[in-house]
Amino acid sequence: MSELNKIALKILSNGKGILAADESNGTMTKRLDSVNVQSSPENRLLFRETLFSSESMTDCIGGVILYDETINQSSSSGKKIPKLISDTGALTGIKVDTGAKVLANSAEEKITEGLDGLRERLKKYYQLGARFTKWRGVYSISKKYPSQLAINSNAHALARYSALVQECGMVPIVEPEVLMDGEHSADDCLSKTSEVIQKCFEELIVHKIDLTGIILKPNMVLAGNKSKNKISNEEVSLKTLECLKKSVPNEVPGIAFLSGGQSEIEATENLNLINKNNNTNFIMTYSYGRALQQSALKFWSKDIKNIKETQNIFNHRAKMNTLAAQGKWSSELENK
Ligand code: G3H
Repeated sequence: MSELNKIALKILSNGKGILAADESNGTMTKRLDSVNVQSSPENRLLFRETLFSSESMTDCIGGVILYDETINQSSSSGKKIPKLISDTGALTGIKVDTGAKVLANSAEEKITEGLDGLRERLKKYYQLGARFTKWRGVYSISKKYPSQLAINSNAHALARYSALVQECGMVPIVEPEVLMDGEHSADDCLSKTSEVIQKCFEELIVHKIDLTGIILKPNMVLAGNKSKNKISNEEVSLKTLECLKKSVPNEVPGIAFLSGGQSEIEATENLNLINKNNNTNFIMTYSYGRALQQSALKFWSKDIKNIKETQNIFNHRAKMNTLAAQGKWSSELENK
C-alpha cells in the first residue's frame, strides 16, 4: 500500500468524511453577510476554530480543508490551526487553486487557475502540516455547455495539479463540479457529469497519477434547481452510482461528494441511499461545506459567544453524515 493510499484511507475510512472549511475570503464574506456577522479575520477564525474543536471531530471528521488564511492562523489558546486539527486525529488539507476565471474563447464558462508557482506553494503547505489538497474545476450545464473546451482544459489542469501534489507527498482531491443551476434534467446531469469525470481520468492517466492516492470529489447526479422534473432521492442515488460505476477506475479508493447547494437533510439522505445501494468497491462519503456548516453558522451568528451550542449543532450534522456514509442514517435520528 503506498503512503498516498494510506493517507486517503485514513481520511475516508469508518464512515469519516471531510469538513470543507476552505471558503475563500470572498465566499466566506458572503456567508457571514447572509447572517449579519462582520467578515473579519478574527470572526472567520472564531467560527472555524469552534468547529475544529468540536467533539465530533474525533469520530466523524477524517480531514479538514482549509483556506490559505486559516492554515496560517493560531487558535485562541495559541495552537497553530493544523495542530488543533491533528490533535483530534484528523488530517489537514488545503485548497490550492486560485479560483475559476473566464475561459478564453468560451466566455460563459470557467477555467480554474493556480498552476504557476504551485510546486513552491505546495512545499510551504506541507511544512505547515497539510497532507492533502483541493482543486475545484467548475462546469455549467445547459444545451451547449459544458463545451469540449471547458471539459478538456479543466481536466488538463486537474491532472497537472494532481501530479505536483503527489510529487510533494500529498493526496490531491480532484473536484470536477457540474453545477446544479439550471433547468436541465437529471439525465442531462448524468450524461454531462459522466463525460466530465471520464475526461478527468483520461488526463490523470496521461499524467501518470497514482490513482490509489487520490480522492474524487464529484457532484451527485441531480435535476437542475430550476427543472420541472425533479427526481426522488432513491433515483438520485441510483443515477449517481451509475455515473461513477462507468466513469471511475477501480483503483480509486474513495469518493467524497460535495453538497453543491443541497439542503443539509437532502445531502445526508442522498448520501445514505448511495451507501445503501452501493454496488461498487469505492468508499462513498462526504466532503461538505454548506451542508455541514449552515445550521451551526446560523445559530452562531445570533450568539457568537455560545460555543457549546454551536458545537452541538455541528456535532449533530457530522454524526448524521457519518451514519449516512455507512448507510445507517434514518430521518427519525434527526430529531433524537
Ligand atoms: O468546493 C466546494 C466545497 O469544498 C464544498 O462545498 O458542500 O458547500 O458544495 P459545498
